[in-house]
Amino acid sequence: MMLLLLSPALFLAATASVSQSPACKVTPYDSKWPSTSDWMSLNASIDNQLLRTVPIASSCWSGNPFGSSVSCGTVKSEWANGMWQSTLPESIDYPIYANNSCLPPNASGYSATSGCTLGGLPQYIVNATTEQQVATAVKWAVARNIRIVVKGTGHDLNGRSSGAYALSIWTHNLNKLERNKSWTHPFANTSEDVYIVGSGQKWGNVLEKALSEGRVVTTGQDPSVGLGGYIQGGGHGPISRTYGLAASHVLQMRVVTVTGQILVANDAKNQDLFWALRGGGPGLYGVVTEYVIRHHPVPHNVIMGSVLITPKDGSNHSADLTWDAAVRHLSALPDLMDAGLAGACMISTGESAKSFGSLNFSTTGVVITQVFWAFNSTPAAMEALVNPVLANITQAAGGNNSLSITFTASNAGNYSSFNSSISGSEVAGGESVVSSRLLGHAELIDTPHHKRREYLQIAMRSKNVTAGTYATVGLQGGPGVRNTPKEEWGALLPAWRSAYLHFISNGAKVDSLSAGSPKQALQSAADFYAPREEMWAKWSPNSGAYMNEANPYDPNFKHVFYGVNYDRLVEIKAKYDPTYSLFVLSGVGSDQWEYDMDTGKLCRVD
Ligand SMILES: Cc1cc2nc3c(=O)[nH]c(=O)nc-3n(C[C@H](O)[C@H](O)[C@H](O)COP(=O)(O)OP(=O)(O)OC[C@H]3O[C@@H](n4cnc5c(N)ncnc54)[C@H](O)[C@@H]3O)c2cc1C
Ligand SMILES: *[C@@H]1O[C@H](CO)[C@@H](O)[C@H](O)[C@H]1NC(C)=O
Ligand SMILES: *[C@@H]1O[C@H](CO)[C@@H](O)[C@H](O)[C@H]1NC(C)=O
Ligand SMILES: *[C@@H]1O[C@H](CO)[C@@H](O)[C@H](O)[C@H]1NC(C)=O
Ligand SMILES: *[C@@H]1O[C@H](CO)[C@@H](O)[C@H](O)[C@H]1NC(C)=O
Ligand SMILES: *[C@@H]1O[C@H](CO)[C@@H](O)[C@H](O)[C@H]1NC(C)=O
Ligand SMILES: *[C@@H]1O[C@H](CO)[C@@H](O)[C@H](O)[C@H]1NC(C)=O
Ligand SMILES: *[C@@H]1O[C@H](CO)[C@@H](O)[C@H](O)[C@H]1NC(C)=O
Ligand SMILES: *[C@@H]1O[C@H](CO)[C@@H](O)[C@H](O)[C@H]1NC(C)=O
Ligand SMILES: *[C@@H]1O[C@H](CO)[C@@H](O)[C@H](O)[C@H]1NC(C)=O
Ligand SMILES: *[C@@H]1O[C@H](CO)[C@@H](O)[C@H](O)[C@H]1NC(C)=O
Ligand SMILES: *[C@@H]1O[C@H](CO)[C@@H](O)[C@H](O)[C@H]1NC(C)=O
Ligand SMILES: *[C@@H]1O[C@H](CO)[C@@H](O)[C@H](O)[C@H]1NC(C)=O
Repeated sequence: MMLLLLSPALFLAATASVSQSPACKVTPYDSKWPSTSDWMSLNASIDNQLLRTVPIASSCWSGNPFGSSVSCGTVKSEWANGMWQSTLPESIDYPIYANNSCLPPNASGYSATSGCTLGGLPQYIVNATTEQQVATAVKWAVARNIRIVVKGTGHDLNGRSSGAYALSIWTHNLNKLERNKSWTHPFANTSEDVYIVGSGQKWGNVLEKALSEGRVVTTGQDPSVGLGGYIQGGGHGPISRTYGLAASHVLQMRVVTVTGQILVANDAKNQDLFWALRGGGPGLYGVVTEYVIRHHPVPHNVIMGSVLITPKDGSNHSADLTWDAAVRHLSALPDLMDAGLAGACMISTGESAKSFGSLNFSTTGVVITQVFWAFNSTPAAMEALVNPVLANITQAAGGNNSLSITFTASNAGNYSSFNSSISGSEVAGGESVVSSRLLGHAELIDTPHHKRREYLQIAMRSKNVTAGTYATVGLQGGPGVRNTPKEEWGALLPAWRSAYLHFISNGAKVDSLSAGSPKQALQSAADFYAPREEMWAKWSPNSGAYMNEANPYDPNFKHVFYGVNYDRLVEIKAKYDPTYSLFVLSGVGSDQWEYDMDTGKLCRVD
């Protein structure tokens, strides 16, 4: 019936676009897939830097089908090590997004019957050492309708650096790291003191160099995270409260577009591309080869404080008080951040709470673990800020015997010691999906207490109530982000401007074995979070989420990840990637495509 309503003009337009661009990206099962000798010609044209994908865990499978040169013992013992994973051409930290295609025996999702295939991993990888190789390879792939993915470290939480039947551009060896104290700003006739960094570098190396020169850069918390996806998605970290997000610290990028152009993007040239690449989403607009980034003086006198709030006993009364305490604690954070504090808060339930709070009883409440830090400060100054908040929480809970609250503040040494103390465990290999929101005054203070408590309880729901769950609440917005000049904002989600907290919740069960396949396990996580996304939408209709650490299956991702920038980003994407060769999950324009993890096919939706 619908067809009858199509006007002839529309019908012609529809058929024309279909004939111009094929409905699906090509796969090795299609006749149009290049022959081995075609691939060899590509290899020859890119300085022999083309790799056939060798899943590292191939050595764990009978006959080592892909000829991995790393022993299965090593693969097993290193599998969960994100730093090790980040050095490999094909591996990603969350292999469920590569359909668990070739896992070692003790990995999450491993099944002895699933075998070792390329599956959701790319078919070929360019071990890029020059921009020209990247340009030649992407042009070649576009001409043959082959999907392209870009991988730096492979740390992406949503597997956006892998894809079935793709040609991968691996940036690991684009590892320049130089300082230029008089880099000429393209826009004004002024010079700046900058670092020029290859997009395959890891933040740990950049920070190490900066600290040795008395400077600090906008890293995240873990040294193995790369510049690529982190900057293009936003990039928060220990100094974002003070200086803003990493995307706002870029003065220039060198970019290879999938049409094979090598471009310089800054405030004077290719401004639209430069704008999109600062926060408008990773892996979408081209392959960034190099960043020019700002740096700041290293902070002195780093003070760290730690707060622990637990229920006094296993009673429901005590549990109730902890939920109220959590609501009050979160509402106090914006003022504390305006006064100079940053940090991270962990809220946990069930057995997670028991272990974080070292409880010898079970609780239906929460345990709150808060770490604060402040730069160029003193323990006494931190105590003066935090003690009144804790006194308030105690008082609201009816005095001293209802909750257990401890707080200590002390000198954390220099920035380097501080940074190592907050660096995470870099654990890779798990199966997980998170759901997150950026929260500001509107959500944390202006919303009535009882509503906040109700929303928080939904955010803390766990599929397994006994095991419980935890949320990581980063104090990563606030003044530094809010005060970023408009011209340095780029395509960052506008909600960051009013955000104080980046609330990352968990609780879904992602288990590809019991679900039957990675596709089904991810679908069931998406279903589990559907009511939570509805809750976030109610609590924070004008806010959104940090796309790099969020639920990629939120049906409302356009608004939630990109806000008002979305339509403009679609135009820029179409300009620089007209064949839509760069697909990523919940990326700009991704709703026009469907990536089926079971078949590995990437096709247009009609
Ligand atoms: C242990 C860990 C800690 C983290 N801590 C933080 C944190 O403190 N703050 C924070 O903001 N985020 C953090 N994240 C999230 C992080 O921002 C994302 O995982 C991000 O995608 C990492 O970027 P990457 O380049 O290292 O990863 P990759 O997986 O290599 O790439 C991620 C995405 O970026 C694209 N991409 C990578 N390089 C390029 C390039 N040169 N050109 C074009 N596209 C490219 C890829 O195609 C992919 O879409 C953390 C993640 C992990 C695993
Ligand atoms: C590309 O050429 C180099 C050098 O001959 C070779 O080592 C490599 O295996 C080739 N790549 C592929 C995919 O065959
Ligand atoms: C896998 O086994 C190795 C030893 O064989 C061990 O070192 C490693 O921690 C195990 N990893 C996991 C995820 O269980
Ligand atoms: C993905 O994994 C499922 C089983 O877990 C399998 O049936 C399917 O063939 C795989 N798809 C690809 C492209 O490897
Ligand atoms: C990638 O290329 C560099 C430079 O040629 C080389 O040193 C490195 O061994 C290559 N990596 C792999 C995995 O082939
Ligand atoms: C710094 O960059 C400028 C261009 O902006 C260049 O002329 C100069 O040579 C560079 N200096 C160094 C030390 O690389
Ligand atoms: C840029 O500034 C320098 C010093 O301030 C001056 O010597 C030079 O002429 C200026 N160049 C241009 C193109 O304005
Ligand atoms: C405590 O609360 C739980 C649910 O949160 C309920 O099942 C239980 O009956 C309550 N216990 C008491 C003693 O009220
Ligand atoms: C828990 O430990 C406290 C001391 O820290 C003790 O007083 C209490 O009896 C213990 N409770 C249980 C249930 O073991
Ligand atoms: C203490 O609580 C009161 C009332 O809830 C609030 O107005 C005040 O800002 C709080 N003070 C602190 C330091 O949190
Ligand atoms: C809690 O106890 C401490 C000493 O143990 C005391 O200094 C403080 O005033 C008490 N606070 C309340 C609200 O009772
Ligand atoms: C920071 O402190 C640590 C431990 O005291 C010391 O080893 C390191 O050299 C210091 N780093 C700098 C840059 O001062
Ligand atoms: C729930 O978690 C508990 C504690 O971690 C565990 O013993 C139990 O097996 C889990 N239940 C399910 C259905 O996974």
